[in-house]
Amino acid sequence: MLTAFFASSLAVLALASPVFDLTSPADILTRSDLISSSCSTSGSASCHNTTSQSNLCCFESPGGLLLQTQFWDTNPSTGPSTSWTIHGLWPDNCDGTYEDTCDPSRAYTGINTLLTNQGASDTLSYMNTYWVDINGQNEQFWEHEWSKHGTCMSTLKTSCLPSGSPKGAEAVAFFQTVVRLFKTLPTYTWLSNAGITPSTSNTYTLSQLTSAIRAGYGHTPALDCTSGALNQISYYYNLKGSIIDGTFVPIDAPSAGSCSSSGIKYTPKSGGGGGGTNPGDLPSKAHIQAISGGSSVGGLLTAGTWSTQTLATMTLSGTSSSFTMVSSKGNCGVSGGALTCGSGVTATTFSAVTSGSNLLLASGGSTSFTSDGTPSGSTVYTVYTGSSHSQDFTLSIVSA
Ligand SMILES: *[C@@H]1O[C@H](CO)[C@@H](O)[C@H](O)[C@H]1NC(C)=O
Repeated sequence: MLTAFFASSLAVLALASPVFDLTSPADILTRSDLISSSCSTSGSASCHNTTSQSNLCCFESPGGLLLQTQFWDTNPSTGPSTSWTIHGLWPDNCDGTYEDTCDPSRAYTGINTLLTNQGASDTLSYMNTYWVDINGQNEQFWEHEWSKHGTCMSTLKTSCLPSGSPKGAEAVAFFQTVVRLFKTLPTYTWLSNAGITPSTSNTYTLSQLTSAIRAGYGHTPALDCTSGALNQISYYYNLKGSIIDGTFVPIDAPSAGSCSSSGIKYTPKSGGGGGGTNPGDLPSKAHIQAISGGSSVGGLLTAGTWSTQTLATMTLSGTSSSFTMVSSKGNCGVSGGALTCGSGVTATTFSAVTSGSNLLLASGGSTSFTSDGTPSGSTVYTVYTGSSHSQDFTLSIVSA
């Protein structure tokens, strides 16, 4: 209902004003994808040119061998129990060597804020579920993936962007493209369609796993194992046009990954006592603990403020993707960027994001919260969403 409302109101806006170059309803729903490379996608694919290409804004080079890498992390369990998670998108050279960390001047920080400010909060929200760090440090993980790999993409050079693009627009396009590609690569489902599901006892041969993926992808991926257990998959592509909006052409992995040919384990993510949390598992009564600088420091009181005093027991209603939170004082809601709970407060719809072994509270898809300081003793700080205040922390939902 909400989506329909936005779609129709934006459609009206588009008709009334030519500011947005909207051409179809699909575009309206992904307004932030409107940055366009103006590159043709009918020329040669990267690594397949027979003459030297001069416009590297429209031809990815030298990193024309692109890998979309995904993790299956079980220790600790990371991300949804029925989905692999994103590692990154890497531009290898056509011979398999690679360059990295190509432009430190564009090693952006604050990816969270960048995506939000440039209208890509839908991408951010998806990343908070499917592009998660094993230690809960999503922001640092995203910054690393962008600066190490994204800054090496020739088609994402700042000079390739439409004039007037805001600072960091090419990084926003990078994250959007990775999410767009990942959505076409449902590894868990492809394996499961072949009867291959996580198990503490079964093992699989490499050819069983590869055939299952080939049935969905049409090409051979590279599979990597850790201690004999499946841990990573890489899907290979060449690219026609730009990373921003080009056509990814699937290809076979040029070499096999590290898994052996048989006896491969595919272990469940949240097997008993592993500390993993399924996204569907939202406790109905919870304490909200703050995690700051890697350690737990107090949490939320009944008014929604941050303190090291006795934490409130919150009642959570809904599912992990959409729930409300109520303390003994009343509804919890975000107003003017500040979180409060009380009798006159309008309830905000929150979501919960699995990160490492934690289930994190998210507002507007973001798990970032800030305050003006770190509480101790009887001090109490107001909790703000986003990263506008000095002290960063996340809020972990712990069953009460
Ligand atoms: C393909 O284009 C790149 C970029 O111009 C160039 O470095 C490379 O030598 C070209 N390959 C061939 C076979 O011409």
